[in-house]
Amino acid sequence: MSEHLQKAFSPAKLGKLQLKNRILKAATYEGKSPDGVPGELLLDFHREIVAGGTAMTTIGYCTTEADGRINDQMPWMDEQFRPQYTHLITELKSVAPDVKVSGQMTHCGNFTKNRKLQRLKRPLGPSRQLNMLGISAGMPFAGAMKLEDIDYLVKTYRDAALFMKSVGFDAIEIHFSHGYGLSQFISPRSNRRTDEYGGSLENRMRLPLRALDAVREAVGDDFPILGKMGMTDGVRDGLQFDEAIEVAAMLDNAGIDALICSGGTSSFNPMVYFRGETLDKGMLEVETNPIARLGLKYYGPRLFRHYPYEENFFLSDASKIRDRVNCQMVYIGGCTELESLEKVMREGFDFVQMGRPLVKDPHYVNNAMSNPNYRNNCSHCNKCASLIEAPGGIRCVENAPA
Ligand SMILES: Cc1cc2nc3c(=O)[nH]c(=O)nc-3n(C[C@H](O)[C@H](O)[C@H](O)COP(=O)(O)O)c2cc1C
Repeated sequence: MSEHLQKAFSPAKLGKLQLKNRILKAATYEGKSPDGVPGELLLDFHREIVAGGTAMTTIGYCTTEADGRINDQMPWMDEQFRPQYTHLITELKSVAPDVKVSGQMTHCGNFTKNRKLQRLKRPLGPSRQLNMLGISAGMPFAGAMKLEDIDYLVKTYRDAALFMKSVGFDAIEIHFSHGYGLSQFISPRSNRRTDEYGGSLENRMRLPLRALDAVREAVGDDFPILGKMGMTDGVRDGLQFDEAIEVAAMLDNAGIDALICSGGTSSFNPMVYFRGETLDKGMLEVETNPIARLGLKYYGPRLFRHYPYEENFFLSDASKIRDRVNCQMVYIGGCTELESLEKVMREGFDFVQMGRPLVKDPHYVNNAMSNPNYRNNCSHCNKCASLIEAPGGIRCVENAPA
């Protein structure tokens, strides 16, 4: 095994947290909490990942409040789910005592089709705009947050962080990208505010930095906080790389422990972070809502643009951000085969997050450590992602025929 692959499979510290190797499971919202309860289905999915040698798994979409959900099947970080999350993490650690568990802390902002709103009358984001996702659910409009809504949102990050630490999460990953709540504030396309939360990048970063501060205050200095940020929105009037590099510097200065650099948004251009086969055909196979089907048929090809898949598709831009910051760097995006992993390590990244490769083969790490000729062979058909809202949630269709 080459020196760089050895590095990938050797212990390392994320902040002060000891990890047994440098391979982390990326957040891939599992869709495995029927009726909003994070139970056995979710556990089974992550049980395989941790049994397979991955150093740290990430529970997808840990919503900071009930109204931060994209749909009503998502759990949120709330006392009522304490038994389930405690059980989930305890069980994962009984399978692999040295494994760590992170949770991706997210809020949908104005991108939702959850009709069971509890606190709000309608979804809120930085500015008034169309909620494309909500059209099929009869919620086509989103309002603009008032200052008190912003304060409340920050509090939900703090409370969720306290909850997550108390149920046994070892790390928190704050989602600053992909077009969800915090990234709606960072993006000049979705943030048209004229107060201190809009306009300059400094103003657009005010809420994301407040959320980071609130999480830090809740969990303390020794608890690792990762941040998944966007390097571009992939649309003309959205976030571009020159500003993204400043976003990275601001998060770094504010004390984030590690950055994960992604791009694209679920609302405007999701294929930037997937690449490969577009999602619309797979989504049409499982979508039952007639309005959503119509939208997918006509709007799908415009939303899901074609970006040919290539290995390590974010490596060149992420390396520029690596050169700018002092925090640790987690590479994400098409690191599927061992030669790509080797390259990422050679480039000086501290860790790698893998999404689809671990959905395809949860035992990637153990298999690759015992076989120098290991191939993962994920085809990037992206059918796994089309299944997020299908019964049973995500799985690799190549492994287990329907
Ligand atoms: C099924 C599926 C679900 C995903 N859900 C999330 C999510 O909840 N949060 C997120 O930040 N990214 C999500 N992603 C994107 C991945 O985290 C990752 O950025 C992307 O798949 C590229 O990494 P990969 O090439 O290793 O798969 C998802 C991807 C897939 C395939």
